[in-house]
Amino acid sequence: MAEEKLLKRDLYCGQINEKYLDKEIIVYGWVNKKRELGGLTFIDLRDREGILQIVINENFAEKELIREINNEYVIAVKGKVIKRSNPNPEMFTGNIELIAEDITILNSSELPPFFPENNDDVSEELRFRYRYLDLRNSKLQKNFRIRSEVNLNVRNYLNSKGFLDIETPMLTKATPEGARDYLVPSRIYKGKMFALPQSPQLFKQLLMISGFERYYQIVKCFRDEDLRADRQPEFTQIDIEMSFGEPEELFEIIEGMIKNIFSINGKDIRGKFLIKTYEEVMEKYGSDKPDLRIPLEIRDFTSNSGSLGSNILDSILSKGDVVKGLVLENGSGYSRKRLDNINEYIRELGGAGAIWMKKGEEGFKSSLKIDSSSIEKFFKAESVGESDIVFLIGGKKEQALSLTGRLREYLGKDMIDKDKLEFLWVVDFPLFFYNEDEQRFDSNHHPFTSPKLDEIGLLDSDPLKVNSIAYDLVLNGVEIGGGSRRINNIDLQKKIFRLLKLSEEEIDEKFGFFINALKFGAPPHLGIALGMDRIIMLLTGEESIREVISFPKTTSSLCLLTGSPSTVSEKQLEELKIKFTK
Ligand code: AMO
Repeated sequence: MAEEKLLKRDLYCGQINEKYLDKEIIVYGWVNKKRELGGLTFIDLRDREGILQIVINENFAEKELIREINNEYVIAVKGKVIKRSNPNPEMFTGNIELIAEDITILNSSELPPFFPENNDDVSEELRFRYRYLDLRNSKLQKNFRIRSEVNLNVRNYLNSKGFLDIETPMLTKATPEGARDYLVPSRIYKGKMFALPQSPQLFKQLLMISGFERYYQIVKCFRDEDLRADRQPEFTQIDIEMSFGEPEELFEIIEGMIKNIFSINGKDIRGKFLIKTYEEVMEKYGSDKPDLRIPLEIRDFTSNSGSLGSNILDSILSKGDVVKGLVLENGSGYSRKRLDNINEYIRELGGAGAIWMKKGEEGFKSSLKIDSSSIEKFFKAESVGESDIVFLIGGKKEQALSLTGRLREYLGKDMIDKDKLEFLWVVDFPLFFYNEDEQRFDSNHHPFTSPKLDEIGLLDSDPLKVNSIAYDLVLNGVEIGGGSRRINNIDLQKKIFRLLKLSEEEIDEKFGFFINALKFGAPPHLGIALGMDRIIMLLTGEESIREVISFPKTTSSLCLLTGSPSTVSEKQLEELKIKFTK
């Protein structure tokens, strides 16, 4: 068939059903699979909407052309829609097929290194090297369709709430968000660098000073940090800032936006999100981003541990340390092997291990030397059931809580209802933590976060006691957003910088432009940034944000597709006056 006749496609493959019976149509697509059966040739033709079965009869004239066609060839087919003799109810197009009358090969394909539909069995390295083929996979196609919908949905929603989409620079100065910067050398100003933004934090605050009142941006951010399943060096934030508001108002706006986003996947989220303080979540879950789908809470066993008569526990208590733990209902059947694995897991995390106590066939036993009657009394005093198991972790409060938190996640893995969405606002974070390595305070969020107004006085006497007006949004154990009320008072902002041990020169050099802006009527303002990739990961049920980023980096920060980072020419380096030492 002449190619010009095929130029007008009628429909996408995946849109054709009984409605088009007996119609003559033209479709384009990629050959997903070709098979011969009793003189007939079947082609599963794939386009972005789905797969359509093409049937080529024995009497089709161009036999050579059919022989040539192979997987991933791009073809155009003209044909008639007919009823299928062996329907496939799983497919939208499953009740029909297209009897080919004319076929044109639009392009051939070499044998691909893997077939897109089978990418489950392919190493990530190969998938990323051939990401354009990987992206032909129907699940990935769906993920990016959802991503596009989220994008549009967020824009419409925020516009309807009066937020303006304003772009901020990519070539800029470092903003501290706790990671290393990606730097871009300047050709014109030799020896000077731009930094790619870790976030648009200072620009969005400047936009509040400029009087825009409500800003948003769906924006790329860059952070040179160790990567994990939910971290990429370049990722996208839904970045938001507003003037003259309170956190409660912002929470309402964000909750509305999240509910809208999840409705894209048919999830109906009702009611307000839970709010818990940092202190409460650390005590109960040993984590500032707890997965509330796990029905376990940490308990404090410090006061009763002394009654067990164990040297090990006594020595923990004598140091003034704590004993935290978990009770697992009906866990008395845990095997020795399983208990050893649990102990090993805690050791790998740097703990001394997890002590267990349970009732066996010959009375109560423990991994420590404790007599049966003492354990029995302990169980009674702590209202632990006889078929339950108790785990104890002792040590300094912070470490014991954090390890017990990890144990909670480890034990709770199998208790999770995967269909549940547990949202949680974590509020009242301490403003600072103590950075032992550098012997100074460090901001828990970033240095522009406002202390709680009634605790400002403590900045002079006990900075670690000061809480902040900061909040994180957590979904199923993943931090999907974080924000705060900002400091809009120049003296307070300078004071925070000084507590972070920045000298006047450093303050001026790094943030002079911003401090200056605070002099000119900076309104009270607050904001938040949501991790768009993480939200879409959770929305699509993926385990990693790499599945919802079109061209992601590997966990070692490489782009295997383009082979970057890469060396550059001597000429480019010379222009920048950059010389590498070995
Ligand atoms: P924060 O650093 O908490 O706050 O970032 C906001 C959200 O961005 C997501 N996120 C990431 N996603 C993927 N890969 C990464 N490397 C990565 N780092 C962060 C998380 C996180 O909750 N300027 C402040 C926001 C504000 O105060 O308004 C900020 O960037 O989901």
